[in-house]
Amino acid sequence: MDAQKITAATVRADFNDSVAVAHYARAAHFLGLWESERILIERFFPDKAAPLLEAGCGAGRATLGLWQLGFTQITAFDFAEELVEQAGYLAAERGATAITLLVADATDLKKSHPLRDTVFFGALFFFNGLMQIPGREHRRAALRELHRVCALGAPFLFTTHDRDASPTERVLWRLETERWVHAVQDPRLVEFGDRYFEDEAGRTFMHLPDRAEILADLAATGWTHEYDAMRTELARESRAVRDFSDECRFWVARKH
Ligand SMILES: C[S@@+](CC[C@H](N)C(=O)[O-])C[C@H]1O[C@@H](n2cnc3c(N)ncnc32)[C@H](O)[C@@H]1O
Repeated sequence: MDAQKITAATVRADFNDSVAVAHYARAAHFLGLWESERILIERFFPDKAAPLLEAGCGAGRATLGLWQLGFTQITAFDFAEELVEQAGYLAAERGATAITLLVADATDLKKSHPLRDTVFFGALFFFNGLMQIPGREHRRAALRELHRVCALGAPFLFTTHDRDASPTERVLWRLETERWVHAVQDPRLVEFGDRYFEDEAGRTFMHLPDRAEILADLAATGWTHEYDAMRTELARESRAVRDFSDECRFWVARKH
C-alpha cells in the first residue's frame, strides 16, 4: 500500500498531540522570546499600539513575549486548538486578557470571522511555523493571506531553516538529492526539502528551503524582501533557547 503523503491534517494532528502540547506549553511558560526575536521586534515593529497578527502562535510563547514587551493590540491564532487553549490559560494566568486568541488556518483566514475584516499593521510567524505547511502552493497561500490582511507598509517577520547554511547541511542535502533522483526518498514527503521526524517535541513536519526559494515566494505573493540574517549573526542565545530550537534564518518583508 502507498504511504500517505503528509497533509495539513497530519501536521495539525501532530501539534494537537499531547507530547507536542506539553513541549510547546513548557516553552511558553518558561522560555519566552528569544533574544534574536526581541532584537528584530524592537527594530522593525516600533509602534507598540499597532494591531499585530501572530500566525502559528502555538501555546503562546512569543505571544506572551510580545505582550510583555508592551504591545497592546495582539491577535494570535493557530490551527491546533489544543495549543490555542494552552495559550489562553497562560494569558489568563499572566493577566494578559487583552490578547485575542483564535483557532484559524493561515492558508485561509477568510474562514475565521474575526479575521475577515480586520486590518493589521504587522504580522509575525515565529519558529518556522510557515515551513510546517506542506506544499509550496499552500505556503504561498498563507503568505498571500497574511499580505491581504495587512495594511500598506506593514512588516512581516518570520523564520525558516536554510538548506545551504552549513557545509554539513549541504552534504546531507546532496545525499537527499540522490534519494529523490532515484525515487527512494521517504514516500510521505511532499517536496524536495521536506523532513518528517520524531523527537521530544513529538512528530514534526518541516520544509527546509534555500534562500532563493523564499525570495521567490515573497515576490510571488506581494511581499517586498527587506532583511534576512541567520540567528547566530543576531544574538548569542541561551543554552535553553539553543536546546529548544536549531539555527534558523530570520526574514523581514514589507507590504508596499
Ligand atoms: C514550531 S510551532 C511554533 C509555536 C510557537 N509560535 C512557538 O514559537 O513556540 C509552529 C506552529 O505553527 C502552527 N501552524 C502550522 N501550520 C499552520 C496553519 N496552516 N495555520 C495556523 N497555524 C499553523 C502549528 O500548529 C504550530 O503551533
